Amino acid sequence: SFLGIDLGTSGLRALLVDGGGRPVGSTERHYPVSQPHSGWSEQDPADWIAALDAAVADLRDRHPEFSALRGIGVAGHMHGATLLDADDRVIRPCILWNDTRSHEQAARLDAIPGVRDLSGNIVFPGFTAPKLEWVRQHEPRNHARVARVLLPAAYLNLHLTGDHVTDMSDAAGTSWLDTAARDWSDALLAAGHMRRDQMPRLVEGSAPAGQLRGDLAQRWGLSHPVVVAGGAGDNAAAACGIGAMAEGQGFVSLGTSGVLVAARDGYHPAPATALHTFCHAVPDTWYQMGVMLSATDSLNWLSRITGASPADLAAGAGDRLQAPGAVRFLPYLSGERTPHNDAAIRGAFTGLGSGTTRDDLTRAVLEGVAFGLRDSHQALQDTGARLDRMMAIGGGARSRYWLRVIATALDVTLTLPADGEFGAALGAARLGMAAAGSGSVARIMTAPDVVEEIAPDAALREPFDAAYQAFRAAYPAVRAIQ
Ligand code: XUL
Repeated sequence: SFLGIDLGTSGLRALLVDGGGRPVGSTERHYPVSQPHSGWSEQDPADWIAALDAAVADLRDRHPEFSALRGIGVAGHMHGATLLDADDRVIRPCILWNDTRSHEQAARLDAIPGVRDLSGNIVFPGFTAPKLEWVRQHEPRNHARVARVLLPAAYLNLHLTGDHVTDMSDAAGTSWLDTAARDWSDALLAAGHMRRDQMPRLVEGSAPAGQLRGDLAQRWGLSHPVVVAGGAGDNAAAACGIGAMAEGQGFVSLGTSGVLVAARDGYHPAPATALHTFCHAVPDTWYQMGVMLSATDSLNWLSRITGASPADLAAGAGDRLQAPGAVRFLPYLSGERTPHNDAAIRGAFTGLGSGTTRDDLTRAVLEGVAFGLRDSHQALQDTGARLDRMMAIGGGARSRYWLRVIATALDVTLTLPADGEFGAALGAARLGMAAAGSGSVARIMTAPDVVEEIAPDAALREPFDAAYQAFRAAYPAVRAIQ
């Protein structure tokens, strides 16, 4: 059997799969995020270890398959800075991906010539390098003690193997990695006042990072060697879980935020449109991702202020796809990443009339989110990515109307996966399988069965295009008055 661990922001999920990669059982343990100041977001790495130990004990008690464990993979929330001293002791709480305290440091690093070219990305405040710059400026004593910086997943790798090792997909989110060369960049490290010896060893996510430590194996009741994979950042792991591994394969996830992920055979960075370009968790492969900050969050907001549930709102939109009406919605309730990289922008409705109904607002919100995703899709296409079909996942994918809007707005066919596992924990378990030599990446990282296809509505293509042009024009206009 194999174990996939998804170290998430709110909790750790552990999934046990059998020798063929089929799910056997899973369990989850939660831990807090601490926000001692506005914009701060921290976690105690000791909580992750406690969650891991408890989750493993649970799986071990419930599933006899655990005794045949051969491989482990860890996926983690990306970009977090876990600072260790020379004795591997944690120096301060881990600063998480959604912590924005280092926005000034990020802007400084982002403006240094060559930084975007080497890293392939804007230096976002959430990325790791600006966090270390913040620590250098505000906590110099802590900074001076840093012997090693580990991403959250790499901290679990250290616990599991005793070695400092990270995978390329997670490392690409630090702003210290030469993303094309899949190696630490001395120039980027120097820009961030860091040294190569403070970095963990790099391996591919699907390659072995090491072996499960003897004392842990003994505690877990295992007397044979267990391989630990390089692992992955959670988005790359999710791509492994859904089988998005090669050019033309991708997915759209409609969660609180919306992401559009495309696997790429080559390296085609486009930082100007705020696309994220990271190494994939398997060799010679990258992935690109557009991120919109308020996807289901936009519908949830409308639900809160109207008192109707999101499901009731979506049902009010009707069954048959309609052409967009006069109302436009800009889904920038928390700012936007792709394509604007604008933390200050806020949302808007335009075109309201005295006859505008709640259902009109709902359709405008569903369309506005779809147009935001079209921005990401366009940014991806501009780099040469082609995505004619995409799997749709996440809570928002339960609304057929929304899926029809997105398919038509983007002119892509959406596919719906059969119920089951296909998230980051499965991707992590699959990396464990690959690292243990249980088969080729192509054989292991397969796509789930498709139960339904949602094709674009060709008859409505034109009105959707026209509404999208108005949506595009609205951003600079709204920007100018905020
Ligand atoms: C990716 C990102 C998030 C985290 C949280 O750039 O910031 O998706 O990985 O899970």
